[in-house]
Amino acid sequence: MNKIKSIGILTSGGDAPGMNAAVRAVTRAAIFAGFKVFGIYRGYRGLIYDEIEEFSTQNVSNIIQRGGTILKTARCKEFQTEEGRQCAYDVMKRRGIDALVVIGGDGSLTGARIFANEFSIPIIGLPGTIDNDLYGTDTTIGYDTALNTIMECVDKIRDTATSHERLFFIEVMGRDAGFLALNGAIASGAEAAIIPEISTQVDQLSELIKNGFRKSKNSSIVLVAESPITGGAMGLAQRVKEEYPEYDVRVSILGHLQRGGSPTAHDRILASRMGAAAVDALLDDQRNVMIGIKNDEITYVPFTKAIKNDKPINQDLLSTLRRLSI
Ligand code: F6P
Repeated sequence: MNKIKSIGILTSGGDAPGMNAAVRAVTRAAIFAGFKVFGIYRGYRGLIYDEIEEFSTQNVSNIIQRGGTILKTARCKEFQTEEGRQCAYDVMKRRGIDALVVIGGDGSLTGARIFANEFSIPIIGLPGTIDNDLYGTDTTIGYDTALNTIMECVDKIRDTATSHERLFFIEVMGRDAGFLALNGAIASGAEAAIIPEISTQVDQLSELIKNGFRKSKNSSIVLVAESPITGGAMGLAQRVKEEYPEYDVRVSILGHLQRGGSPTAHDRILASRMGAAAVDALLDDQRNVMIGIKNDEITYVPFTKAIKNDKPINQDLLSTLRRLSI
């Protein structure tokens, strides 16, 4: 018998476009199934400090198109301590919240796994991160919107790069994952992507210079994943200045604008399907799984797998970028 009567929803870690669509989907699907729903503000912090409100369907009206998260978000240090998690559990008990849906990335789902195990609470995770670095899902909520934002920015930078015949290193987010850099490079017709996944195997900058930039143009765009492993755009530009002074090099760091904006149709649909699937999972007595999507089918990925931090880069993408940037 399913004993869950009420569900708490929170967003945690870096925000991602589509989180609101996910909050809406979980709220509506849960109310449709007869659950009570509580919105928890500021991630795990709101659970510790009881920043919680009961949600009706109206609380999530007119939000599917909005970037950011109406629930606010935080990276909560206290939740990393046993005392913090005990407080969070006490608040859940007091409020009568039986289960949680946590929308966030790697760190947030790691917290969810520990909390679920410690107190035997059913928790379902939704992959909400622009980084796309969660294992067991083809894509994460916010990734497609961020990719489109990167593409638009690179299109603009290309105008000035071409006019001045410059080499541009454009740094994109990803927290040690190269998905945004690699697919952003393909989508914007960039010459190369420098990503952490292959940094230990090859000196990507030397390779790039050795192979020569695109012959038909004097300007070049290289997307760089932020990461100490790649050196980031600044580190690479410094190397070029020292090792290849003949290049006129510039840097552009796209930063947090990649996290903003109205979600694309793809992210809205993904978030809606995943939010509804989270409620289905609770109805099926599943716990401690992240909702994923594989070949357009919803999947249920145990937290331990989702956060194991080794989602592979598709080699076909690397080869495509290399062949198309001659
Ligand atoms: O995980 C999402 C992300 O945007 C990463 O790509 C980036 O490294 C990080 O968050 C930045 O975090 P903050 O906004 O806390 O500086």
